Amino acid sequence: MAKINKAVFPVAGLGTRFLPVTKASPKEMLPIVDKPLIQYAAEEAEQAGATQLVFVTGRHKRSIEDHFDKSPELESELESAGKDKLLTIVRTILPEHVSCIYLRQAEALGLGHAVLCAKPVVGNEPFAILLADDLIDNAAKGVCEQMAELHERTGASILSVEEVPPNETHKYGIVETEAQPDGSLRVTSIVEKPKPEEAPSNLAVVGRYLLTPAIFDKLEQTQAGAGGEIQLTDAIAALLKEETVIAHPFEGKRYDCGSKEGYLEATVELALKHPELGESFRDYLKSLAL
Ligand code: UTP
Repeated sequence: MAKINKAVFPVAGLGTRFLPVTKASPKEMLPIVDKPLIQYAAEEAEQAGATQLVFVTGRHKRSIEDHFDKSPELESELESAGKDKLLTIVRTILPEHVSCIYLRQAEALGLGHAVLCAKPVVGNEPFAILLADDLIDNAAKGVCEQMAELHERTGASILSVEEVPPNETHKYGIVETEAQPDGSLRVTSIVEKPKPEEAPSNLAVVGRYLLTPAIFDKLEQTQAGAGGEIQLTDAIAALLKEETVIAHPFEGKRYDCGSKEGYLEATVELALKHPELGESFRDYLKSLAL
């Protein structure tokens, strides 16, 4: 199986679209049914072989560290109450062979800057980046594993992409691509949040990347761009002039949980799939007869 070792989770954003809930607690801890967003992303990275989870955190993010830590009091409480199922749930949040590393991004200077903060830990190997507010549900392989396989075949950096309606290009990095003889889509240009009339296509980059370490040099050379932030998109634009970057139209359904609507859609759909709640929740929704 194709593997990646390190996965970076930039979680230092301010999450303003979700205020007031994100005033004192991180967006990535918002629950979808019974698990926080960040756990879905961590599990996806673990399935792709990641053994080191690198969180780039900021202020008010302590609950993320607490979530992945052991909780001896809670465990002994559950153990003595004979609540074995819950005990297993709590104990398996982080598999034994996986470790967490936390770095601070002192100021929210952009996604590119957050990724650059991970340089000393990632070192000289390809790594995945997962933005936990994009929750991607797929019954078979997670997107991270899909990217790891594509990287193993090609050695290239991978951007996961999805078609978006033209009136939404201004929310994403948009790529222009060229189909290769092997069927892959080589990225020829990338532009951050273009207006529909300026967008080179409607293929949007979503919150899953697998990049070679060459991105760090590019990030170091990137000046603050749109909104005074160091944009990952600008560094990728520089990278693709020197290395192959491939767009990967991933398999799975993405929910933009950074927006309230996407978050609610994920909540409803994952609740309907939930082994214990699904059936009764479906009945409840039917009873609303909207
Ligand atoms: P967003 O653009 O979604 O920004 O960041 P945000 O601050 O999280 O949310 P809004 O737009 O204010 O509601 C994309 C990803 O990049 C991370 C965020 O945590 C999120 O996962 N990020 C962004 C950082 O880690 N640091 C930054 O300086 C900016």
